[in-house]
Amino acid sequence: MVEGTYYIETYGCQMNEHDSEKMSALLERMGLTAVSSPERAEVIVINTCSIREKAEHKVYSALGKLKPLKAKNPRMVTIVSGCVAQQEKEGLLKKAGYLDAVLGTHCIDELPELVEQIKKTGERIARTAFSKDVKSLHVTAHGRGRSPVCSYVTIMQGCSNFCSYCVVPFTRGPEQSRPFQEILDEVSALTQKGIREITLLGQNVNAYGNSHDMHISFAHLLEKLHKVQGLNRIRFTTSHPRDFHEDLISAIADLDSVCEHVHLPLQAGSDRILKAMRRGYTLDYYLGKVAKLRSRIPKIAITSDIIVGFPGETEDDFLQTFEALQQIRFDQIFSFKYSPRPGTGASSLPGQVPEEAKTSRLAEVQTLQDQITQHYHKLAEGTEEEVLIEGIRIKTGQPFGRTRTNKIVNLESSQDISAGETVKAKIIRGLKHSMIGRKIS
Ligand code: 5AD
Ligand code: SF4
Repeated sequence: MVEGTYYIETYGCQMNEHDSEKMSALLERMGLTAVSSPERAEVIVINTCSIREKAEHKVYSALGKLKPLKAKNPRMVTIVSGCVAQQEKEGLLKKAGYLDAVLGTHCIDELPELVEQIKKTGERIARTAFSKDVKSLHVTAHGRGRSPVCSYVTIMQGCSNFCSYCVVPFTRGPEQSRPFQEILDEVSALTQKGIREITLLGQNVNAYGNSHDMHISFAHLLEKLHKVQGLNRIRFTTSHPRDFHEDLISAIADLDSVCEHVHLPLQAGSDRILKAMRRGYTLDYYLGKVAKLRSRIPKIAITSDIIVGFPGETEDDFLQTFEALQQIRFDQIFSFKYSPRPGTGASSLPGQVPEEAKTSRLAEVQTLQDQITQHYHKLAEGTEEEVLIEGIRIKTGQPFGRTRTNKIVNLESSQDISAGETVKAKIIRGLKHSMIGRKIS
């Protein structure tokens, strides 16, 4: 056991958030205790993201802040993990003399041993090897999630799609699925601890089972998890439109615990751009999936990711994206300016779009989507929704949670409700980013 304190700073997506939860669990098993500011920590981990240049810049400014901390307390252990760590490997140790270790995305399980070794020998270490059987895939976070009733569960790691803009296949390695029994055991253990909602995580969850001779598909996995006693809600993210088949649509339609929400990144509305992105589908194919989902599951919420300003995107290509958004009317989207990533196919394509055009296209997309999202929230006024309460807002005392379609509902504060309860609420106001509800007794 090591006495002491730790602090983890997290950048990036849900996979990274969950990796941080796993690292917390590992450090706490060693005997370390979390603190809320880096100044008071003896072990600091910066868990990094490199999906876009802006994310990477944020990471470097966070790293810069470690320098004075380490100068003040040379016994402090400073570690960089995540996607920037994986990308830069031992080069980071050369760049930043105040760093003790670089921990790659396949090596999270080695964190406790790494800390002990640094404390003992003062060595500077880089662990960034990719392996066929990713050990960190087996590490569990024991429900150290964002709420006492919701938890992430990793079902796969990596991605083998090589979309031409994306760095993830390089930072997370090839697609690998986690053994089914392990997932089932983790979900069962979580529900016994009071977890009511799980979100299954992977870069491409509907390819689950493809990477091994596993004889189980993602839809089957959902069927098995649906039978776990005490589990009310199953969510999953992210899905790839190309691998989104009939059996998965049936699983969402037929299994009560599987929530009516799909995150299905479209990326662009122009077939020419989709091809250059190597997405493997056309807009028509995508529209067909949306139509099927909506006809089988009328309440389904569909959210998406959009990239503007991919190399070669003309005004006309952009217009096709804009019109696709008008036609589909997603419940919500995440939208980004294309950012060239080192080593990816698209970064060396001709026709890189000027920054001003990217900025104005992004603003157009976001203004349109804000109107659509708010319209959905307004339409919900007067309807009844099932809300799983995740906690109480500290400032206002309002219980809050999400609908099955993943929309945030803040309940009126006077109501006596605690985390973990599932309540029926009448939506009394639809706002831009959330809704206000009243519990129906
Ligand atoms: N530039 C901009 N956005 C990107 N994304 C992935 N790579 C890039 C990039 N190079 C977006 C995609 C993906 C989401 C997680 O991030 O929309 O779905
Ligand atoms: Fe960022 Fe992608 Fe890594 Fe997630 S997997 S942290 S989005 S680069």
